[in-house]
Amino acid sequence: MSAKKPTAEPSLQRPPAEVTYAAELVALEKADTGPKPPGWKLSARAVRTFIMGDAAKGIARKFVGQPALVERAMVALATNRGLMLVGEPGTAKSLLSELLCAAISGTSTLTIQGSAGTTDDHIKYSWNYAFLLAEGPTPRALVPAPLYNGMKQGLVVRFEEVTRCPLEIQDSLLSSLSDRVLAVPELAGPDGMVFARDGFNIIATANTRDLGVNEMSAALKRRFNFETVFPIQHANVELELVRTESKRLLERSGVPKAVPEDVLELLVTTFRELRTGQTVDGQAMERLSVPMSTAEAVSVAHAVGVRAHFLNDAPATPADLVDCLMGAALKVEKEDVTRLRRYFEQRVARQKAPHWQAFYEARIKLPT
Ligand SMILES: Nc1ncnc2c1ncn2[C@@H]1O[C@H](COP(=O)(O)OP(=O)(O)OP(=O)(O)O)[C@@H](O)[C@H]1O
Ligand SMILES: [Mg+2]
Repeated sequence: MSAKKPTAEPSLQRPPAEVTYAAELVALEKADTGPKPPGWKLSARAVRTFIMGDAAKGIARKFVGQPALVERAMVALATNRGLMLVGEPGTAKSLLSELLCAAISGTSTLTIQGSAGTTDDHIKYSWNYAFLLAEGPTPRALVPAPLYNGMKQGLVVRFEEVTRCPLEIQDSLLSSLSDRVLAVPELAGPDGMVFARDGFNIIATANTRDLGVNEMSAALKRRFNFETVFPIQHANVELELVRTESKRLLERSGVPKAVPEDVLELLVTTFRELRTGQTVDGQAMERLSVPMSTAEAVSVAHAVGVRAHFLNDAPATPADLVDCLMGAALKVEKEDVTRLRRYFEQRVARQKAPHWQAFYEARIKLPT
């Protein structure tokens, strides 16, 4: 039987991972000889290869981080505990959960977006009112939500930003995680209970800068394995990621030119220094109140390329970077403007290389 091969339509702004990497997933499945946990589409080893990449097999690296983290995450998913990815904003928690779902279940779209307004309807199921009025609560009238579908079909469900939900909503996951059952009290007979099939589990993500994980109930915490996703440690690894990701995004935006290397170096150095509060040569400096994450660095590199191409029709310059940096760096506290200006005076001004000097000259664009 030939595997069904979804195609990436060029008009989709951001296809899910299982569409973007459909060919890789098919190739991995074909060559997969490793043992598979029940309900998984791929063996754990093939899932790891899909996420961490393997040049010899033509599989791109998609997540930059410790293989041990990915391994622990997979082990959690093959047990009866959920996986909770926590960390600073923009450290690829959502990306990792998407990749895990795409490889393990073949779909990453069973996703619940946590917010203050999330209700049981968004998580479990709701009702089609026309059917409900006509025939009462019947299986036909039930509109399944991601948790219902995931349990019924044995798929991994994503719960993004779970700590933004009210506590009682978070706790409604308890029976799905511990007893692996979802009650539908409105339906009589066997339809009133959904028992989870093999392959079902939950990956939740939570951001350490938003509402804390401390707010989570102890009962729910016990049902998750926690894994912290850290920012990328090495500057050259982050630079490589920003280079490849921004190139990919620019191509999608119809921009043929990549961001020049000197501008990328300025960008990544600036982001890292403002994020950690330390210069490359170890001097302490003030951090900004915003996280200055790698995800944000990728977006700024994308914006720099777009700006240079569509507005100036010329290669991107350090001045374009100053323009695009403001939208990322200056969003919360007014004092961040002062901190950023100080960064230019105390750090950028001292660099002698021409691209650093051009960056310094462009500081006049910063608001006062
Ligand atoms: N370690 C990493 N590996 C691969 N891509 C990364 C990494 N860190 C950041 N990125 C970049 O950031 C993007 C992922 O950001 P993502 O939305 O997954 O982060 P997040 O941790 O979920 O953030 P938030 O807490 O704001 O939801 C990727 O598309 C990629 O461009
Ligand atoms: Mg996220």
